[in-house]
Amino acid sequence: MTSETALLAGVTGAPIGHSLSPRLHGYWLKKYQINGYYIPVELASDQLEEGLRALATLGFRGVNVTLPFKEKALAIADKITDRAALIGAANTLSFRKNGNIQADNTDGHGFIANIRQNAPEWEPKVGPALVLGAGGASRAVISSLLAEGVPEIRLANRTRSRADMLCEHFGARLKAIDWNRASSEIAEAKTVVNTTSLGMEGQPALPISLDKIRKNTLVTDIVYTPLMTDFLQAAAAKGCVTVDGLGMLLHQAAPGFENWFRQKPTVDQGLRDAVLAP
Ligand code: ATR
Repeated sequence: MTSETALLAGVTGAPIGHSLSPRLHGYWLKKYQINGYYIPVELASDQLEEGLRALATLGFRGVNVTLPFKEKALAIADKITDRAALIGAANTLSFRKNGNIQADNTDGHGFIANIRQNAPEWEPKVGPALVLGAGGASRAVISSLLAEGVPEIRLANRTRSRADMLCEHFGARLKAIDWNRASSEIAEAKTVVNTTSLGMEGQPALPISLDKIRKNTLVTDIVYTPLMTDFLQAAAAKGCVTVDGLGMLLHQAAPGFENWFRQKPTVDQGLRDAVLAP
């Protein structure tokens, strides 16, 4: 392999050392024997635009963007996909030959592809969804659930005003409910999603009771450390169909990889093992 012809992409954030993306893309580069490199690049917040344009000049085909740059990257981009505009944040940038930066957001795609792969019998249209949390991840989850035809989403967030703001943004199919009503409203939900950080290692547990949840409800969590959160375990014990959050991370990476390295990748057990390896 010569580095002269190698395809280049990467990920930027601050900090970036803990990102799993280099491992994930590295697995695919090796699997498909692609002459390419995927590199973590740490940029200072006040140098994000300069840094991104420099990477484009150096021949990078694009980068993933992670915290805290997801909103800022959208503002810098010259072109924005509809789904990135709807979510209000970017996670995948492509550098065009004319120097333009195109911003996309594949988090919602990753969220849905993960459910489709692991719970193929899931039918989003059969009834309302309950979404817990109204932060950045929630916007991607809500926009993709609406696109899949979920008839109604009930949104519960500790800080009610954040849920109300999302309702204004996404329209009538999204309804805010009080955080302390989530445990009772769960009875009507066909799909339940935790988008808060609660239940993650080092964080408090999610204070939502699953006593009233119906059997066969699809329950998923964007938290993937641990893979089987207490919330998912409680749901499984109630006869629900559970999907862990790691697949969302894996699937959100696929469109960028395909675009930059000209190969559609598959999300399989080998990839999960590579990403989970100590
Ligand atoms: P992200 O962009 O990753 O979604 P975020 O914007 O900080 O992160 O959102 C985190 C979510 O977890 C929010 O919904 C937050 O609720 P608030 O809007 O009330 O802050 C929720 N969250 C975090 N800690 C929480 C806690 N102890 N109890 C309830 N919700 C919590």
